[in-house]
Amino acid sequence: MTLDFSRIPRDRLPALLRAMPKAELHLHIEGSLEPELIFKLAQRNGVALPYASVDALRAAYAFTDLQSFLDIYYAGASVLIKEQDFFDMAWAYFERAAADHVVHAEIFFDPQTHTERGVAMATVIEGLAHACHRAHAEFGISSHLILCFLRHLSEEAAFDTLEQALPYRNHFVGVGLDSSERGHPPENFARVFARCRELGLLTVAHAGEEGPPAYIESALDVLQVKRIDHGVRCMQSTSLVKRLAHERMPLTVCPLSNVKLCVFKTLADHNLPALLDAGLCATINSDDPAYFGGYINENFVQTFAALPTLGARQAWELAMNSFEASFVDEGQRSRWSKKLHEAFIEASIG
Ligand code: ADE
Ligand code: ZN
Repeated sequence: MTLDFSRIPRDRLPALLRAMPKAELHLHIEGSLEPELIFKLAQRNGVALPYASVDALRAAYAFTDLQSFLDIYYAGASVLIKEQDFFDMAWAYFERAAADHVVHAEIFFDPQTHTERGVAMATVIEGLAHACHRAHAEFGISSHLILCFLRHLSEEAAFDTLEQALPYRNHFVGVGLDSSERGHPPENFARVFARCRELGLLTVAHAGEEGPPAYIESALDVLQVKRIDHGVRCMQSTSLVKRLAHERMPLTVCPLSNVKLCVFKTLADHNLPALLDAGLCATINSDDPAYFGGYINENFVQTFAALPTLGARQAWELAMNSFEASFVDEGQRSRWSKKLHEAFIEASIG
């Protein structure tokens, strides 16, 4: 049965966006730590928090830029001490992902946030990997872990982190670059990314979230990344947009994050429609959902509600892009595409 997007009226879009299968490609697992779990783990581990209650912590989530968020995000992660804590955090994410019809998740973790506090690399990776394994068994969600280097730290520290992680190489598929973007260009990590590529690791990097288009270019040229995380500032350079479209270079866009961190004033101002119109392989993701007001379905539903030019055709395109941009084989992608087709046929019948 062929798809006719015009047979799907706007009022059926929210249900379709929620029900359609999708891949999540930009999710920091530490950013899925809900305030309730932060308090529970703080109590379990005897960690003192500078907030009196869950509500007081939530009230502090009023960010003015990336750095104002990162300060609170790293403080929240300080309650993670034992393998069980990392498992519990990731398991809570997978329960949400299953409810949002996520069929595949590629999950960032920030080991330096933990190893700098004396938590062993094994504790972090084994806790997360255990949750990934169980999510596949219980929910049928496949997943990959991506180790992120913190760009506000040195390249030497990144090499050190890589060394500590290599005994667990079978648990992660790639490396990324995150944390404070401005003043920390991708080329600072040229050598460690080159080493990672030699080791067969896939590479991605945050670029063009707050930083300029030149950071996106150096992520491509120097780090040789397979995806750009965020990338929304590419629109400031016509030649870069052309290049990204020509190379089908995926951008993992995170609309609610962009508004919370003041990259765009409101969702109605977001440039996602322009990115898609320019032929870019953009996807919708949740970044740090516990901090930014919603998981992947909330990102889809709120973004489509705010931007009237986004309709059923773009919903299809975004889901297909998420499969295309994922680090899985063609067979798996085509199985997900069939499921997507079924969800759209059902929505067009009504
Ligand atoms: N770490 C967690 N969330 C991030 C973001 N949105 N940008 C950069 N680093 C991050
Ligand atoms: Zn991110």
